[in-house]
Amino acid sequence: MSKRIAIIGAGPSGLAQLRAFQSAAQKGEEIPEIICYEKQENWGGLWNYTWRTGTDEYGEPVHNSMYRYLWSNGPKEGLEFADYTFEEHFGRQIASYPPRAVLFDYIEGRVKKAGIRDLIRFRTPVRRVEYLADQEKFRVVATDLKADRDSEELYDHVICASGHFSTPRVPEFPGFQDFPGRILHAHDFRDALEFKDMDILIIGTSYSAEDIGSQCWKYGCRSVTVSHRTQPMGFAWPDNWREVPLLQKVEGNLAIFKDGSTAKVDAIILCCGYLHHFPFMEDSLRLRTANRLATADLYKGVVWVKNPRLFYLGMQDQWYTFNMFDAQAWYVRDIIMDRIALPDRAAMDADVAERVAREDALEDDYAPIRYQGDYVRELIAETDYPSFDVDAANEAFFQWKKHKKASIMGFRDNAYVSPMTGTLAPKHHTPWVEAMDDSLESYLQTPPCAAE
Ligand SMILES: Cc1cc2nc3c(=O)[nH]c(=O)nc-3n(C[C@H](O)[C@H](O)[C@H](O)COP(=O)(O)OP(=O)(O)OC[C@H]3O[C@@H](n4cnc5c(N)ncnc54)[C@H](O)[C@@H]3O)c2cc1C
Ligand SMILES: NC(=O)c1ccc[n+]([C@@H]2O[C@H](COP(=O)([O-])OP(=O)(O)OC[C@H]3O[C@@H](n4cnc5c(N)ncnc54)[C@H](OP(=O)(O)O)[C@@H]3O)[C@@H](O)[C@H]2O)c1
Repeated sequence: MSKRIAIIGAGPSGLAQLRAFQSAAQKGEEIPEIICYEKQENWGGLWNYTWRTGTDEYGEPVHNSMYRYLWSNGPKEGLEFADYTFEEHFGRQIASYPPRAVLFDYIEGRVKKAGIRDLIRFRTPVRRVEYLADQEKFRVVATDLKADRDSEELYDHVICASGHFSTPRVPEFPGFQDFPGRILHAHDFRDALEFKDMDILIIGTSYSAEDIGSQCWKYGCRSVTVSHRTQPMGFAWPDNWREVPLLQKVEGNLAIFKDGSTAKVDAIILCCGYLHHFPFMEDSLRLRTANRLATADLYKGVVWVKNPRLFYLGMQDQWYTFNMFDAQAWYVRDIIMDRIALPDRAAMDADVAERVAREDALEDDYAPIRYQGDYVRELIAETDYPSFDVDAANEAFFQWKKHKKASIMGFRDNAYVSPMTGTLAPKHHTPWVEAMDDSLESYLQTPPCAAE
């Protein structure tokens, strides 16, 4: 096969794509030439933690949005790889909400086994992707940061897997200019201990707000005030946690909310989400979408309808993650390897419209999980990705939701059944509120009673 493929990003989505091709090669099939560009020093995407914020040592915007003490916010049973289970990686079943380092280890285990590292050009951000219609090729310009040299190469297909939780959405409120404390976005949050003994204000009500607030609470901030634009999260929060309407302005360190209530705060953390940001894609190739389950302009959630030689992976809002990226990557691989034929433009547009309408009609809290589960099932049915019990993964998510309602600081103490192996995870040895050490070694420790 003489095709050349460029993958942008070696996070979980880009690695899924590399693994998809390697799996075909392992079965004796001829695969295209593949080059994966990665701007960081290592693979793993957001799971590759750095202490840095702002710009890195090469002056590049820091990709990472993860922080110390981050534990998975959903059960690992919802993200397990079907071709590489937690039991295969760790030699046994582990508890259900692993910290970042444990999930990084798991992600890395599969790709080390697959032996695909040589296909990645690290420290090489893609600067520009253009389509040359006369040649039916993409021109990809990238910079080798270490050598400070640009390269330009031609490809038959581009797969953009650069993630969409890295470029912060940063609103401004009156009075910010003169606020005497620190104002930061969740993207730049690294260590909850920085906010010990402080009164903090969080703007936003989604996962970053919930998790960063919970971290700060766990590591000893004095109080948490969470300000909502649409509606409060409504969990049974601890006593020193308040939910208030949207911030109107700050005067000195006094925050004033829409209902006239106030709070004296030492720091403000904007948990206002992220922008889908692809400045390196030429205008006609650039995905513009809200953070939702049915992304704009992507047939089957992955094929760029305006030029179906281009693909985007992992651009949806995410309940499912790692195994959804796999489902997408195997599907994209099979289009590129001419095993799956694409319909015409009208049919692709109709597919996008149908997905959008179906998402818009979703009613209860559980429906989006079923919707994304159905999507994963739909894609894996068309490829040789190992089939798995999506209903069992949905069930882990349903239980997770119930456990959060029952105890927002205690939900991570629960355990779920693996949809891949059917094994029930053990409960973690220490309740989450008491587990201050988020290292892999600590998480994988066998509790003394079980070891006896
Ligand atoms: C704070 C936070 C916590 C999260 N926690 C969870 C969780 O607990 N469980 C879960 O399942 N999901 C979680 N997620 C969701 C997360 O999006 C996925 O788990 C996963 O990391 C997405 O993988 P990705 O490869 O699509 O994107 P990313 O992980 O963002 O990886 C993209 C890669 O592309 C590279 N890149 C970007 N631009 C370029 C360029 N121009 N050239 C070359 N390389 C480039 C980046 O350096 C990066 O390595 C979390 C997200 C955030 C922000
Ligand atoms: N431990 C973990 O695993 C963990 C921790 C953090 C994040 N994450 C992941 O990170 C991803 C991103 O989550 P996220 O919470 O950062 O983003 P998000 O889900 O997109 O939510 C953005 C939030 O910002 C609010 N917002 C946006 N603009 C605003 C404005 N101008 N004024 C006030 N509020 C505004 C939104 O409010 P409206 O509802 O009003 O629109 C919403 O509550 C998710 O996939 C999540 O799972 C995981």
